[in-house]
Amino acid sequence: MKQLVVYFSKTGGTYMAGRIVDVTQGNTDKVAKMIAEDTGADLFQLEPEQPYPDDYNACTEIAAQEQKRNARPALKALPNIDDYDVIWLGYPCWWGTYPQVVQTLLDGVDFSGKTIFPFCTNEGSGMGSSMSDLKRSCPNATIGEGLPLTGNRVDQSGDQVKAWTESQLASVVS
Ligand SMILES: Cc1cc2nc3c(=O)[nH]c(=O)nc-3n(C[C@H](O)[C@H](O)[C@H](O)COP(=O)(O)O)c2cc1C
Repeated sequence: MKQLVVYFSKTGGTYMAGRIVDVTQGNTDKVAKMIAEDTGADLFQLEPEQPYPDDYNACTEIAAQEQKRNARPALKALPNIDDYDVIWLGYPCWWGTYPQVVQTLLDGVDFSGKTIFPFCTNEGSGMGSSMSDLKRSCPNATIGEGLPLTGNRVDQSGDQVKAWTESQLASVVS
């Protein structure tokens, strides 16, 4: 069974534990790498053609506008998922769901017949509406149980991530 982690994550200004901080590695990036390490999956990071600003407030403003316009921000590249059976799909919660760049991915790649396991780092919204948004966008994929993780607890979440990957993979095999 071939596995790929596809994820979006941002460095620079972010919101963690109730305040704005600057980070050199995003929360979702950390979880993506834990999953790749645990499962042997390949990694593919989504990179917008137009990077989001480091400034947190400017970024939230752009993200809100993109969501309102139902935009499809261009990505530098889309992953080729033809050879993969399982996709671990990671994103931060932005305004209650996945960022619009993830919608660009879901529109641009055919996930039919694939199994998707979503993980979402957030500041309290959990998965938000991302599970139902994902199901609507990928009607012919099998979508497993999502893993929501609070950003400031990611560093302590290794065991939880591992347990989740193991239980999700067991559901594919059985
Ligand atoms: C544009 C923007 C919008 C956000 N909206 C939400 C939200 O609606 N709910 C929430 O719980 N956290 C929200 N957050 C916080 C992020 O989900 C959280 O910091 C996440 O862990 C960032 O992941 P990353 O470091 O991988 O980019 C938002 C952050 C940004 C930058």
